[in-house]
Amino acid sequence: MSEQQSPVVDEHLSEAVIKASSGGDGALTGETLAQWMSANTGAIESATTVGELDAVRVSAVGKSGTITLALKKMHPEHRRELAPEINRAKAETENAIAQRKTVLESAALEARLVAETIDLSLPAPTKPKGSVHPVSQVMDELAEIFADMGFAVASGPEIEDDWHNFTALNMPDSHPARAMHDTFYFPDRDAEDREMLLRTHTSPVQIRTMLEQGAPLRIIAPGRVYRSDSDATHTPMFHQIEGLVIDKGIHLGHLKWTLETLLKAFFERDDIVLRLRPSYFPFTEPSVEVDTGFSFIDGRRVVGGSGDEPGHQWMELLGSGMVNRNVLAAGGLDPDEWQGFAFGVGVDRLAMLKYGMNDLRAFFDGDVRWLSHYGFSALDVPTLSGGVGTPVGSGA
Ligand code: PHE
Repeated sequence: MSEQQSPVVDEHLSEAVIKASSGGDGALTGETLAQWMSANTGAIESATTVGELDAVRVSAVGKSGTITLALKKMHPEHRRELAPEINRAKAETENAIAQRKTVLESAALEARLVAETIDLSLPAPTKPKGSVHPVSQVMDELAEIFADMGFAVASGPEIEDDWHNFTALNMPDSHPARAMHDTFYFPDRDAEDREMLLRTHTSPVQIRTMLEQGAPLRIIAPGRVYRSDSDATHTPMFHQIEGLVIDKGIHLGHLKWTLETLLKAFFERDDIVLRLRPSYFPFTEPSVEVDTGFSFIDGRRVVGGSGDEPGHQWMELLGSGMVNRNVLAAGGLDPDEWQGFAFGVGVDRLAMLKYGMNDLRAFFDGDVRWLSHYGFSALDVPTLSGGVGTPVGSGA
């Protein structure tokens, strides 16, 4: 509402009041004041909105309104004389405004109630709902499966020092394996005066947990890891889950059973066939690369069966091995007393295989269409209620 439209108090009268106040021949008389008052009342009554009414208030009794100006300009003698009358006029005006305001407000409310009818037959407006990212969902599923096998969840920092990420894992300074773990460095330096870095794998959690908890151990460590890599199958940040078991008499058979049990529960099928291939990691000895059989069904990779079956292939799934003696020692354990196995697997990769996405980069684009298509409802508790070791379908 613009100011011109407001029913303001008659300007001439207001001027007269102010002028009269400044003395001169006709000092402000009760009569002029009464005229002004009746003009006020008219303006107040003709205000049809709270906004209009407020304009009246400002011009009549506001900080630079007529009354204030009149009192200011008035000769002190006149002021003393007329003040009670002026103050009464002011109070009356304010009262009238307050009353009118109540009327206008309730009229406005009434009008809204009439206009804003609610049509209960309309469908309720849908609220956008967030969803659980497939990576979070898969991490939850994995944690649940491992919990069934007695594994606890451990964690470590994403900003690591050189010793935990490399040296303690049997990758001394000049080790060529470091080249495959190019990462992002910080200007901050650790106690050894080496640059802090974004961890390249979850394996440093092995060291931290051994040092903190000693042996025996049965842990997984899910989390974000970083490498300076970027293409359709590599993103500079991705997710891994580390597994570590330290005990007495642990051997490769335990590793194979654990991985088989994990993958059967995760992919919800019994025909998971693993192939263990000799490999090399500085932190495991012997090291094994674990492959799983799969076939293409409708253009999608479907895990299951032996890779040697007709129409099937092998796919590299994860790295693992028996924990290297040097790593046990770095973790403060006696390698003649304790043995263990460790593995590291890409969580994003597992999510793609289970839920059928084909571009890793889309995982981290934050496109809500992708998220609502592949995401999970927050109330969808990952149920693997058959439990680990309960074969699906077969009576075995
Ligand atoms: N840390 C290794 C990697 O990121 C994976 C791994 C973990 C291999 C544990 C063996 C044992 O490539």
